[in-house]
Amino acid sequence: MDKFFINGGNCLKGEIKIDCAKNSLLPILAGCILVNGQVLLKNVPKYKDVCAMCDILLNLGGFVKWQGDDLLVDCSQIDKSEISNELASVVRSSIFTLGPILSRLGCAKVAYPGGCDIGLRPIDIHLNGLKELGCKIVEKNGYIYGQKLKRNKSEIMLKFPSVGATENLLMFASLFEGRTVIYNAAKEPEIVDLACFLNKCGAKIDGAGSDIILVEGVKNLHGCEHQAIPDRIEAGTFLIAGAVCNGDIYLKNAIYEHNSALIDKLEVCGCKVLKEKKGIRIIAPSVLESFGDIETAVYPGFPTDLQPQMATLGCVCNGCSLIFENVFESRFNYVGQLLKMGADIKFKSSICIIRGKRKLYGADVWATDLRGGAALVLAGLFSEGYTTVDNIGLIDRGYFKLEEKLVALGGDIKRI
Ligand code: EPZ
Repeated sequence: MDKFFINGGNCLKGEIKIDCAKNSLLPILAGCILVNGQVLLKNVPKYKDVCAMCDILLNLGGFVKWQGDDLLVDCSQIDKSEISNELASVVRSSIFTLGPILSRLGCAKVAYPGGCDIGLRPIDIHLNGLKELGCKIVEKNGYIYGQKLKRNKSEIMLKFPSVGATENLLMFASLFEGRTVIYNAAKEPEIVDLACFLNKCGAKIDGAGSDIILVEGVKNLHGCEHQAIPDRIEAGTFLIAGAVCNGDIYLKNAIYEHNSALIDKLEVCGCKVLKEKKGIRIIAPSVLESFGDIETAVYPGFPTDLQPQMATLGCVCNGCSLIFENVFESRFNYVGQLLKMGADIKFKSSICIIRGKRKLYGADVWATDLRGGAALVLAGLFSEGYTTVDNIGLIDRGYFKLEEKLVALGGDIKRI
């Protein structure tokens, strides 16, 4: 099992390029199941979760081929509608294939998804939406059995603006005859990107990015070429790394507007965050003030996927910081590892209190999940002494060449 070996204390300075978004590419790969033709995805980072989705498409009878940094996908010949537990349990995004398989093939048998250990992660909103639209859904022996029947409802209201459920349902509706309206839809930029991709393939989706999405079902979707949006969570992680490590960093391709909630908080800490022509620049002070408090929320609120990284920032600021985690019910598993590095943190249910100490010490720690692991890397880069971060396969799920980018900025980190 790979580890990161980090020697802390260096400032981070320089420029890196932000990769295409993991949480765009995963639903887009699921969306390829709907497409009767070749899709060329440009500049695809080899995230572990992207590779897991490619395995799923291959298993369905799809064609997947890396062409340098590009990924060629062709699901014209898919002939299977089943995803085994072995394949589905590796990633959360396996559940995103349920809608597309049902809509394209008329039936599906998909095992329950996996994903980071940050809460129960039920799929009731996905399944209830499909049932309301006109699918027969049965859950049995760890599998979801689905059958596309004639349309039931045309309008569905999500009880919570779930990102994945919005994506699953708009993909199902793309090939489902008639009009579908999704109310209380998620508004994340990745939803807009997915709709943009599907519309390039001939879908008729309006309103993505708002809480009401309209879909006119079409008979067939053709191939296209697409480049996913830059990864706002990778960009946010590097912005926080810049703040933590007294940095001056330019993030090429990063979209300022996608990180407004984070940038507001970094400016409270005393950082200068500049909107550049083709990216974002952060210049951090040597002494940081507390960001006060953050409350995670659906987009455009503060992203839950940057919550662990903000805890690390809170450890190195002056004063006390508060984190309210409102999206997932147990997303503080990483705190025990930060305590091993000398952090002063207490949490109870969804609230975390961090006393900034401006001092952390290297230790041997363990990545509890994708973003919690990233928080430990940032802590190691700040700490006095050596840190090893174990179980970094979880980090590789959503960051590509993380250590190479950090070395390019002056960080002393290597994979061992
Ligand atoms: C997506 O997960 C992202 N993953 C997550 O990123 C991200 O944290 C999350 O959206 C929120 O932004 C991908 O896109 C692959 P949700 P998803 O459905 O779709 C509850 C990362 O680090 N819920 O919006 O699973 C759920 O339990 C990952 O990159 C139900 O109750 O998130 C959670 O409390 C982590 N029933 C809340 O909604 C459902 O049917 C938000 O979940 C679905 C969700």
